[in-house]
Amino acid sequence: MQTVHTIADLRAAVAQWRSAGDRVALVPTMGHLHEGHLRLVDRARELADRVIVSIFVNPMQFAPGEDFDRYPRTLEADSRQLIKRDTDLIFAPAVNEVYPNGLDERTKVVVPGLSYVLCGEFRPGHFVGVATVVTKLLNMAQPDVAVFGSKDFQQLMVICWMVTDLCMPIEIEGVTTVREENGLAMSSRNAYLTEKERDTAARLFQTLQQTADRLQAGEKNFPSLESDGLEALESVGFEPDYFTVRRATDLAQPKAADRKLVILVAAYLGNARLIDNLEVTLS
Ligand code: PAJ
Repeated sequence: MQTVHTIADLRAAVAQWRSAGDRVALVPTMGHLHEGHLRLVDRARELADRVIVSIFVNPMQFAPGEDFDRYPRTLEADSRQLIKRDTDLIFAPAVNEVYPNGLDERTKVVVPGLSYVLCGEFRPGHFVGVATVVTKLLNMAQPDVAVFGSKDFQQLMVICWMVTDLCMPIEIEGVTTVREENGLAMSSRNAYLTEKERDTAARLFQTLQQTADRLQAGEKNFPSLESDGLEALESVGFEPDYFTVRRATDLAQPKAADRKLVILVAAYLGNARLIDNLEVTLS
């Protein structure tokens, strides 16, 4: 496994693989890797001959006052895990390599509408930062396929729409959320939780499941499902940004006849902002 820090070195490696006719996969991450990330690497390995993992804490997707500075950076530990999962190359660029002209005055990628709701409403500019950096990473590596987690449901949708709308010749693969034994979705930000908060955090997924059960039982009063969910989370100490039932195809407010739904939640527990979701297909 090689680790490179520049676009030139990344491209040199990819060019060599391409001349041998290899298929290339990219797994974009911000590092501090856990089993959720590693499952994406495993999937990439199934889909391609060569697997690149990018590790870059992207300043453009953090709003002022968010956790950009304290986001865990653990390249050595990440490398040890990636060797075991048969990664070919780690691309770990510096901020200057990705944004040589700064963050503000140059080209950005916007998927309007979808980027301004839910997490986009509570984290202004977040999805512009995500869409811009993912476009850059895809252009730098030019993979055949890129792998993302459906834990970040809205992010995955933004990326799928962007790739379609901009005619990028890249397949996007989604991977199911990997969870702790208690149901908590694995996340780099779980590192901010205390031992006690980790137990409480399991309530996030339990609340999603309870709401899914009620939907499956035929309940259609979405506002009441949402306010019950918010109340359940607040009662155990969460400060929710939102808990909502949406249409799974476009995150619009659902109608009674919609069958493909997704319940999405974002909530603070202590210092950690946690997100999760659960898809529900009504029969
Ligand atoms: P990061 O939070 O590091 O996540 C990298 C990838 O891992 C994302 O596609 C995310 O959905 C996936 N992932 C995280 N936790 C997961 C879990 N428990 N199960 C399955 N997949 C999981 O998401 C980002 O970084 C950034 O926004 C990025 C796309 C790299 C752009 O900067």
